[in-house]
Parts: sequence; C-alpha cells; structure tokens
Amino acid sequence: VRGSLRVPGDKSISHRALLVSAIADGSTEIHGYLDAADPNATLSALRALGVRIERDGTVLQVHGVGLHGLRAPTAPLDMGNAGTAMRLIAGLLAGQAFASELVGDASLSRRPMRRIAEPLISMGAGVTTTDAGTAPINIHGEQPLRGGLAFSVTSAQVQGAILLAGLYADGPTTVHADAPLRAHTEVMLRRFGVELRRDDASLTLVPPNALISPGVVEIPRDISSAAFHLVLAALNPDAEITLRGVGADPTRDGVLRLLARMGMAVARSDDGAVGGEHSATLTARSTPLHGATLDGPDVTVAMDEFPILAIAAAGATGPSAVVGAPELRVKESDRISAMAQGLATLGIVVEEQPDGLVIQGGRLSGGRVDACGDHRVAMAFAVAATVAKGPIRIDGCGNIGTSYPGFVDDLRALGITVEVHES
Ligand code: S3P
Repeated sequence: VRGSLRVPGDKSISHRALLVSAIADGSTEIHGYLDAADPNATLSALRALGVRIERDGTVLQVHGVGLHGLRAPTAPLDMGNAGTAMRLIAGLLAGQAFASELVGDASLSRRPMRRIAEPLISMGAGVTTTDAGTAPINIHGEQPLRGGLAFSVTSAQVQGAILLAGLYADGPTTVHADAPLRAHTEVMLRRFGVELRRDDASLTLVPPNALISPGVVEIPRDISSAAFHLVLAALNPDAEITLRGVGADPTRDGVLRLLARMGMAVARSDDGAVGGEHSATLTARSTPLHGATLDGPDVTVAMDEFPILAIAAAGATGPSAVVGAPELRVKESDRISAMAQGLATLGIVVEEQPDGLVIQGGRLSGGRVDACGDHRVAMAFAVAATVAKGPIRIDGCGNIGTSYPGFVDDLRALGITVEVHES
C-alpha cells in the first residue's frame, strides 16, 4: 500500500463556508468544497432560501443575500443524513422573520435535537421538535432574538447554532466551551468581519450590521477522511501514504495524538494556513501498534475518528480502551454498538461499555458486517479488510458518499481490491 492522496475538502468547514457566505454582503468564491451529500444538503437548503449558488466541482460561487436577505422556503428543508447541516441551519433559521421546517432521513430523525432547540428557545426563538426531541424541527420565525445570554456547551454544532442565531440577537451572546471544540464557526465568522471576543474557553459574539465577504474562502482537506489512510498505512506491511493539504488545526488533530499513544508517529510538515486553519502534509507508514487507553480531551477532538481508531485497536498488540465517549452512541449510527458487533463478527474480543469500548488486539478474520448505514463505520471496516485473513463483506455502505464519495477509488489507487454491489 503506497501512494499519495488528496482526500476531499473538510466537511465541517464546507457547511460553515456555505452558511456564512450566504448571508454576507458580496459574493464569495469557495475553493476546496466537499462535493458530497452532507454539505450538498446545506447547499440545497440555501438555494431553497433564495441564495444563488453556482458550482464547478469543488469551486462554488455563492452570491450572498445579506444578513436579512433569506426568503421563506416553500417546502420543508431536507437535511438528509447530515446532523451538522440540520443543527447549524436551525441556528441560522431561528433568527429569520419567516417560518421553516427541517426534516432528515431515518438516521437523522433519530438524533437528539433538544441540544439546539433549548438554547435557541431561551434566546426567544420559536422552535419545536417531536416529543422525543427529534426532527422534524419547526422554526416559527420570531424576531428579534434576545442577546445578553451566556451558554455552556460541549458540542461544536450547538456552539455553531448559537453563534449563528446570535448574529440576529439584540445584544452580545456568549458561549462557553466545556470541552475542546473545533473552532471552525469562529474562524469563518471572523473572516467575514464579525467581532468575536475570546476569553479562554468563552466566545462572545457581537451582532454585526452586516457580514462582509472576503471574496475567496479556501477549505483545507478533511482530517477525518485522512484518518482512514493513516490507519491503513499503519496496519499494512511496507506501506507509505502521503496526504497533502490536510486541515490539522489543534482542535481537529486529536487523532494524531491518539495514534501516537498507540506507538504511531505520523510525519507532519506544516503547509501554512489555508482559510485561516492550519494545514499539513501527513505521511503515514507501517507501524506495529500497541494497545492504549484513549481518554481525555482528545476524545472530543477526535470523536469522528473512533470507528477507524477501533480498527487500529483491533490490529494492535494488547488491549485498548475507549473511555468517555457516550456521544458515539448518537452519531449517524450507535457507533459503539456498530463497531463492537462488527469486530466480534471478525473474531476480535471486544466489550461494549456505556461510554466506550474495550478491544483486545488480535488477528481479524474475514466475514460479513453491517455498517448500519454509517459512512465512517463502512470505511473503517473497509480498512480492516486490507489486513483480515479473508475478505470482509460490508453491508449498508450507501452513505459513504455523505463525506467521502471517492473513497473506493482512492483505495483502488493504492492497489486494494474492492468490489461494490449495488442493491
Ligand atoms: C461537528 C462537530 C462534532 C463532530 C461532527 C461535526 C461540526 O460534533 O462530531 O461530526 O461540524 O461542528 P459535536 O457537535 O458533538 O462537537
């Protein structure tokens, strides 16, 4: 397994680039956009809100409508499988003078939405969910929102929703982060001239009169997609994979530190800033991994990387534990259960905990596993197959295209045989 790859653009930043440029004055050219189902749900929703967006592959031209220029949609906005899209846009819509409704697919319709509804309601927005606290979300369009409030959050999506709503509040809004959160909303808003005061883990947003487009926004490549190749290289003999232009902000590169605990040194050379974010070239090589306890603040930073970290743990020597990650149960699937079941099917000794997993490293056998419609679970088991004793058949892979549509092509480019069965 040898080669050099350019993984696609960062998913979290692609959502934010779209949302913020849509309400700016002036048009914004976005480079490095992730052309995948999740950000495309945000893009379609913004078009339904009256924003003109032209696209040419990974380059977008967003014609901003100004802070108060969005128009009422004529139908519910379908956010597909995308939790980030639904939560962030709910914050933006909470500040509008019109009503809207957000719906999603079966997985998204099971995910918790009270975490955004509650703070938005306390800001004065009319927001209703189902009795179970899930989508559909109805936003009634009450204005203006109340400023002067302070929130404590442990989620970057919730922080982002509050900050986007705070653009429409009648005074400053403060959000305190109780865990290390990706800083993309803050970075993007600052690029559009929004005044944000940072005091340690607290951010205070001062409502602007207008957001001013910087003209061009560049998006680095997604470290959450790169992570699959890091572990692929570690587990395979005589492997070397180079990944260029990967967003490696300190609030996103926790996977590198967690892999280091397992004995892997990913070579990193900084490429400088891309779109106000750190960008780096990462080179990963074959590494004998050892088991480790994966706990502490980097668990939050690397939350999306746990499906592939579980495969790293399965291929390591000795036991590993994932601790303090109950959030994994409410992602696109229950990732603790999906990974435990799949690994057990492949002959790995694994124990499910309420907030994590204990995995005994071993030799993966072939078999048939269920990705439960979860893109990252599917990609993680594909990496597992490259070192298993027999082929692995992975059911429920249809959502790989939500974050990494070229994944199978990239595996093939590295010399790996993948059969895709459409069903
Ligand atoms: C995201 C934040 C993280 C992450 C998710 C994307 C974002 O979730 O797991 O995939 O773009 O803000 P939290 O909101 O729980 O931090």
